[in-house]
Amino acid sequence: MTDDGGELAFSAKYDQTHSEAYFQKHRQGFWRKLSNNRESEIARLALQAAGNPASILDLPCGAGRFWQTIAASGATELTAADASEAMLEVARTSQPEALVSRFKFLQTSAFDIKLPDNSVDCIFCMRLIHHIGEPHDRLRLLQEFHRVARDTICISLWVDGNYQAWRRKRLEAKRVRKGYQNRFVIPAETIEHEFATTGFKVRHRLDMTPFISMWRVYVLEKIVLDKSVPEK
Ligand SMILES: C[S@@+](CC[C@H](N)C(=O)[O-])C[C@H]1O[C@@H](n2cnc3c(N)ncnc32)[C@H](O)[C@@H]1O
Repeated sequence: MTDDGGELAFSAKYDQTHSEAYFQKHRQGFWRKLSNNRESEIARLALQAAGNPASILDLPCGAGRFWQTIAASGATELTAADASEAMLEVARTSQPEALVSRFKFLQTSAFDIKLPDNSVDCIFCMRLIHHIGEPHDRLRLLQEFHRVARDTICISLWVDGNYQAWRRKRLEAKRVRKGYQNRFVIPAETIEHEFATTGFKVRHRLDMTPFISMWRVYVLEKIVLDKSVPEK
């Protein structure tokens, strides 16, 4: 939820403590490590489907969880960006020096990216849009991605049509909601319609575990919208 042009409520939580905890989170325990490895493999396949772009903007980069995969894809111009300065600092100081030195850094909101139009081949956006429950906020984000990316977007989110989404829906129906909700399952039909509305064509869908997991990575191709044709 945003106010007029403002930020998401969840964005404010990534202070120093939370950022350090996020770095540790994906390294702890057998199942976490397994799912982290699978997510990295899906990311590798997504970048391959995107044509292994030469310039990649990792937004939000978080603690740099995908930097190894991104750097190994053959890309030569790498930018890591996040809204949280604390998160960027944790990433810079926790990841290996040789990897960090391959990236430029940018503290920016994904809703108002501090880069010119068409400045990167690909925006790599993992685990952000499932925090955005309002359609108009997702459209704003996707429009900004359309402005900055020249060619493709790799974007992960929670979709329906699988066991986890079915189970979550049942649990949420029982739960008495306290405060705000900060993660959402977005029906595949809805998000694909939003992609099309903002000028993206789905090139590829990669499911973390087909029919079981809610996580899906979409590889989107930018299409140039013809603004001279009036909308029906
Ligand atoms: C769940 S983490 C995902 C990080 C990374 N992509 C990953 O998968 O490990 C969400 C990240 O989004 C960042 N973030 C939150 N709101 C943002 C915004 N409006 N623009 C850019 N980054 C944002 C947070 O600081 C945090 O690093």
